[in-house]
Amino acid sequence: MNPQPAGHPAESAPGPDLMRAVVIERFGDPQVLRTVRLPRPARAPGHALVRVRAASVNFGETKIRKGLVPELGPPPLGLGSDLSGTVVEAEPGGRFRAGDDVYGIHFIGTYAEYVSVPEAALAAKPGSVDHVTAAALPVAAQTALVAVADYADLRAGQRILIHAAAGGVGHLAAQLARHRGAHVLGTARTAHHPFLRELGVHEPIDYTRVDFRSAATDIDVVLDLVGGEYGRRSLDCLRPGGLLLGAALDPGVTEEDAARRGRRYRWVGGTRLARPLDLVRELVDAGHLRVHVERTYPLSDLPAAHAHADSGRVTGKLVIAIDDEPPTPP
Ligand SMILES: NC(=O)c1ccc[n+]([C@@H]2O[C@H](COP(=O)([O-])OP(=O)(O)OC[C@H]3O[C@@H](n4cnc5c(N)ncnc54)[C@H](OP(=O)(O)O)[C@@H]3O)[C@@H](O)[C@H]2O)c1
Repeated sequence: MNPQPAGHPAESAPGPDLMRAVVIERFGDPQVLRTVRLPRPARAPGHALVRVRAASVNFGETKIRKGLVPELGPPPLGLGSDLSGTVVEAEPGGRFRAGDDVYGIHFIGTYAEYVSVPEAALAAKPGSVDHVTAAALPVAAQTALVAVADYADLRAGQRILIHAAAGGVGHLAAQLARHRGAHVLGTARTAHHPFLRELGVHEPIDYTRVDFRSAATDIDVVLDLVGGEYGRRSLDCLRPGGLLLGAALDPGVTEEDAARRGRRYRWVGGTRLARPLDLVRELVDAGHLRVHVERTYPLSDLPAAHAHADSGRVTGKLVIAIDDEPPTPP
């Protein structure tokens, strides 16, 4: 993950070579997110230059904003990882052409009107959804797919417990698990249980009312999107040999902890799947995967979107529409 180049001009009058982008100049609450004018990036070799139509808010970006990802270095930093948009300049002889609608993941600031993205990080956008919906997918859907289809290789009849099943990654993982024929249990507050049932969750568990360990036993796979104490307690739910997948920054468990209990643990990072976003597109266009967008914010309201995400109560995803205001002229 690399930050956007340091040293940007402060907000100024738009010009032909400038674009709107959001940066942080210090770590902190959502008010540190500032819309500035930056030079429009040049297309790098092997990249496509993309006019971003929409981005989304991921838990990871709120952690960067708070200064909880120190390996990125100090501000100023660009934020935003997901994008859906249109190629405006393509690599000659490459995979894409100007005018192609694409979606993808780029960890150096997709809260911007233009971004130069390695071709390998892009895929053709699902044709059945608009840019706002497509932008909600990349990080969350790829993480869910990699966990369910690659790390767990979940099979029909297996029992999976998904923590934070109503959130961005969780609500997509629940659908993928159900699509594979698994028996799905998911933690969420009671208010989210109708939503979980719509996703195909067989057994919603209100973690505020019961200890999930009493409601989820003999589990083959736990996908823990909460971490910390949840990771440790989740080992109690697994059958012998069962697999705990951790995705939170603090998983609360190590491989050795799990092995001592006769269980397995892995952190979800990287994948053997060749082109996960192509697989996500196929699932979306076939009607097997539907991303729920709770709310769309304009780029100028990004602080409100981050405050919403900080509440920890998001249902599905929050999207940032970059197209809703007049774009800086190309
Ligand atoms: N490793 C990776 O590649 C990767 C990629 C993406 C995300 N992640 C990580 O995965 C985690 C989830 O990310 P996300 O974007 O899906 O989160 P999110 O959308 O912000 O999650 C919000 C949901 O969390 C639920 N929730 C909050 N506290 C809970 C608890 N104690 N038990 C059960 N559910 C709870 C809420 O449901 P209720 O209101 O019903 O409680 C809400 O629907 C984060 O730690 C993120 O950093 C990792």
